[in-house]
Amino acid sequence: MTKKTAELHLSDTTTPLDLPVISGTVGPDVVDVRSLVSKGIFTFDPGFVSTASCESEITYIDGDNGILLHRGYPIEQLAEKASFLDTCFLLLNGELPTRQEKADFENTIRYHTMVDQQIHEFFKGFPRNAHPMAMLCGAVGGLSAFYHENLDIEDADHRKQAAHRIIAKMPTLAAMVYKHGVGQPFMYPQNDMGFSANFLHMMFGTPCEPPKVSKTLSKAMDVIFTLHADHEQNASTSTVRLAGSSGANPYACIASGIAALWGPSHGGANEAVLEMLYEINDEKNISNFILKAKDKDDPFRLMGFGHRVYKNFDPRATVMRKICDDVLEELGVKDDPLFRIARKLEQIALEDEYFIDRKLYPNVDFYSGIILKAIGIPTNLFTVIFATGRTPGWISHWDEMLSSPYKIGRPRQLYKGHARRDMP
Ligand code: SDX
Repeated sequence: MTKKTAELHLSDTTTPLDLPVISGTVGPDVVDVRSLVSKGIFTFDPGFVSTASCESEITYIDGDNGILLHRGYPIEQLAEKASFLDTCFLLLNGELPTRQEKADFENTIRYHTMVDQQIHEFFKGFPRNAHPMAMLCGAVGGLSAFYHENLDIEDADHRKQAAHRIIAKMPTLAAMVYKHGVGQPFMYPQNDMGFSANFLHMMFGTPCEPPKVSKTLSKAMDVIFTLHADHEQNASTSTVRLAGSSGANPYACIASGIAALWGPSHGGANEAVLEMLYEINDEKNISNFILKAKDKDDPFRLMGFGHRVYKNFDPRATVMRKICDDVLEELGVKDDPLFRIARKLEQIALEDEYFIDRKLYPNVDFYSGIILKAIGIPTNLFTVIFATGRTPGWISHWDEMLSSPYKIGRPRQLYKGHARRDMP
């Protein structure tokens, strides 16, 4: 097959620069611009809209056709047939677990769910009304104080153990964040419960009564975690990779991903969607909010709509809407007013040329908040749920990057400041 190249013609040179063009398994080719720096040339791409930052085998997204694959498996099939821990194993190891591998992995995760008792003391320093993401970011960063000296990130087994620990401890810390906010005692993980049932137990259980967790809600929680498990080089995953590229402690890298995820343009959107639905409050107000979203002079955006990559339906939103139906039905709140407003808002937006022209569709965050609210999770904890689900993705990308030669990430800039000048 002939080698593909791209020619870069510069106005001040006669000979064009030949740049290699590289193909992936599927998806767009990339122009390899690494040689440009030796010619004193940078590319310019704020927001990395047109930039492939790395090679990866973990997740593939086809935004035009609404396709999301994890190690080749469609998200719809994983949501239906795989557990969240099966998906974690797949992201980390590249294949779905065999029956024995599944049992061993579940057992490994089970015995890493507790956190050092000293971590309990961390929470005494947080105000009760601290934002849950502030507490989660602090607590996860704090884990690096417990797992650092003996951690050799160049050792694949050490990296795998770090991955197992952070996947296992995230739900425990997420529940502790919630309990601190409501003033209830922390609940210890139960080794006879599944991952998501355990999370709901640690969230809503109390020492005053035996565990009781709904199978339907545990299943819904598990699928929600699966739908959030990974998403290629999104802002928070890119942050984890960039932090990891300096050789930083993996728990500190995950804390940096939590920080990036917090923003309303990223993982914070699920919380912002609920706030928006509460603000809309009645179907008769929807058209005004649509007008606001379209008004260039109004910073308001329709939260849960639009995506940098998906210019078609986000396949996760489609699954999420189905779970929404099932959970609300199961809880007997099918006529939840917020769900009704969301459905109406989606229908109106999808018929509006502003959204059609810009290919703005509901994303993963549009329905997740309604389900989480129905399960009893407070709005300000939604992004903590997102972070818990995204942890296997973050740590799999970190592990993938460190498992082969890598360079520290260090982008350049287009300098528009003062040229050299002397002090007065
Ligand atoms: C997540 O990257 C990932 O994969 C992220 C994620 C993951 O799993 O990790 O999928 C999770 O972050 C989902 C996205 C959650 N965020 C939101 O729902 C917030 C609302 N959405 C927007 O802020 C926006 O759509 C982004 C941030 C998601 C994407 O922004 P882009 O790709 O930078 O697009 P843009 O801002 O250049 O918008 C293009 C046009 C603009 O209009 P024009 O200037 O062309 O006239 O579309 C408009 C924007 O004003 N637009 C919207 C809109 N989103 C884009 N207008 C109204 N409402 C919106 N939601």
